[in-house]
Amino acid sequence: MTRLIQRTTAAAGLFGCLLVALCLMTAVDGMFNGTLAQNVRPPENAVTSGAPPPRPQTAPDQGGNYDKELWGELRRGAKGTVSIPDKQAGILVDSSGETWRALRNGPLPTYGAYALGGMLGLLVLFYLIRGRIRISQGPAGTTIERFTDFERMGHWLLAVSFIILALTGLNVLYGRYVLLPVMGKEAFAAMSEIAKWLHNYVSLAFAVGLVMTFVTWVWYNFPHPRDLIWFLKGGGVIGSAHPPAKKFNAGQKILFWLVMLGGVSLILSGLQLLLPNQFPFFAKTFAFLNGFGFDLPTELTANQEQQLAASWHGIVALFLTVVIIAHIYIGSVGMEGAFDAMGTGEVDVNWAKEHHSLWAEEELAQKGSASGGTAARPAPAE
Ligand code: HEM
Repeated sequence: MTRLIQRTTAAAGLFGCLLVALCLMTAVDGMFNGTLAQNVRPPENAVTSGAPPPRPQTAPDQGGNYDKELWGELRRGAKGTVSIPDKQAGILVDSSGETWRALRNGPLPTYGAYALGGMLGLLVLFYLIRGRIRISQGPAGTTIERFTDFERMGHWLLAVSFIILALTGLNVLYGRYVLLPVMGKEAFAAMSEIAKWLHNYVSLAFAVGLVMTFVTWVWYNFPHPRDLIWFLKGGGVIGSAHPPAKKFNAGQKILFWLVMLGGVSLILSGLQLLLPNQFPFFAKTFAFLNGFGFDLPTELTANQEQQLAASWHGIVALFLTVVIIAHIYIGSVGMEGAFDAMGTGEVDVNWAKEHHSLWAEEELAQKGSASGGTAARPAPAE
């Protein structure tokens, strides 16, 4: 009965998430067919079908003749006419800004919403098909230590700061379409100001959490041939096999490296956004990548550096958020006994034997010999 209630509540929660995702997607859809479409709506007298209307040769409201060639030259950088050292100051019409704006208001939020909604949908589906992954032997009633206080502190610092950064970042991308109509301008502006402040400063906590988790866990996350077997056997998530694993299995190792590389990339691109025009990270990265056969531009203007930083920051953040949603699912609702590892630091012995058999064997043997045969502790009373 309790199981049924737990399952129904969890399914309702996941459905809720799916609904939120659908609202988000509808809002994004509306955003492109509504707000943005209005922005680019042709003037009243424009011809809307057939051949495009001829471009006017004069711009009466700008009070002069429209010289197509002159403006074309200026837009292309007026090659040969600017010889001042500051290349950025020599750009009169920066077309790259328009390209960036189109990405920032178009594919980035659209595909981001599809990815977030898609992941939530997949998890609901997975839950309905597979249900909660149970300890197949049932709980043993005795526990062993899985993570020390320091490990858990690092994890929760990283997790809480990431969640705050993700929510405040999503507000930058989707807030005006999803929350503004509900909250009204005044409240939304006040909330966004606080959110932006949080986003800037919580990034420091995220960086500290990232370093703490890196130094404590990197030793357990180097690849090993057994990781391949873990994948081939579906990792105990697809199917019912429990492939052997040490402290972290192959899936966890991938998560670890995604979080580390994605985290560092977010911190660096975030720094570039926080202190504009100080760090030409992209030109340097492109020059480095060109050494591996790429052909990327290495002469970037200050504006292009900032545009790349903003786009990259958004892409990596959305990607990592999608991955972390799956991680949160499996670490809480998705698997019986998993949350205890980060909650109390102690896991049930049978859970340990099923999901991390090699690690459990080692721990039980080591601690058993150290304590004269009593490795596991009785589970605390509920
Ligand atoms: C409410 C949110 C979260 C919950 C409930 C949660 C839960 C867990 C649990 C239970 C574990 C241990 C798994 C085991 O014992 O094998 C774990 C590990 C880990 N968590 Fe989280 N976590 C959350 C958020 C996050 C966030 C936001 C990040 C990173 C941005 C993160 C990164 C990691 C990493 C790198 C590991 C080690 C590898 C792994 O076990 O997958 N977690 N988490």
